[in-house]
Amino acid sequence: MSQRSDYFAATENRRIRDDLVLAIANVAEPKVAVDCGCGAGADIHYLAENGFVVHGFDVEEEAIARCQARFGHRDNVHLSQSSFGAYPFPRASLVVADASLFFCPKAEFPAVWKNICECLHPQGIFCGSFLGPEDTMASPACNAADFWPVTAVFEEQEVLALFAGFEILRFKVHQYSGTTPSGQPHDWHIFAVVAKKAARHPRANRLPDAPAFHR
Ligand SMILES: C[S@@+](CC[C@H](N)C(=O)[O-])C[C@H]1O[C@@H](n2cnc3c(N)ncnc32)[C@H](O)[C@@H]1O
Repeated sequence: MSQRSDYFAATENRRIRDDLVLAIANVAEPKVAVDCGCGAGADIHYLAENGFVVHGFDVEEEAIARCQARFGHRDNVHLSQSSFGAYPFPRASLVVADASLFFCPKAEFPAVWKNICECLHPQGIFCGSFLGPEDTMASPACNAADFWPVTAVFEEQEVLALFAGFEILRFKVHQYSGTTPSGQPHDWHIFAVVAKKAARHPRANRLPDAPAFHR
């Protein structure tokens, strides 16, 4: 099995993060979610069980095949094999991007962020995470050949600037050292955000480019 297959197998039934629990508590009807880089579908399962129509996409054929096998029988789950840049974001009241925007190509990020902001209904919720510069994965020395190449690394102020048209419900910096499940030493540096789009988002119709970021 490849490292990516191992990752999908290990995460398909992972614990649901508190941030997503907070996010769905703040979603107004209609309950429609987009899960960006959905992986093996842990969050799709939780959202579908909680009454959401879920649109999940992932660039990896294996991720979508696994989700198809899990959710193919459900009429409230819609799956697409797509990159961030190519995905036609439907209107939604929740956008989830857990540990996936790390891998959005730099050239695509401003347009992807614009699409995320614009697809959300007024007072829609974003729940996701951004990679900080102190994370082992952000190091150019990190060999990502068997995983996904990291392309989007943000300073804290850059993350906060993305949410100018939002009310931040929770912002957490996860910074600690430890070992990965496979026993490798790792420094984690992740910004986790749950935020509500303003009722009158200042950039609702035409968003400027998102701020520049590393790599
Ligand atoms: C670390 S995994 C997180 C998976 C899932 N969100 C979770 O938390 O279990 C990152 C996911 O992003 C996907 N991904 C990587 N590059 C992508 C891209 N350019 N467009 C869409 N998805 C991408 C990967 O295939 C992978 O499923």
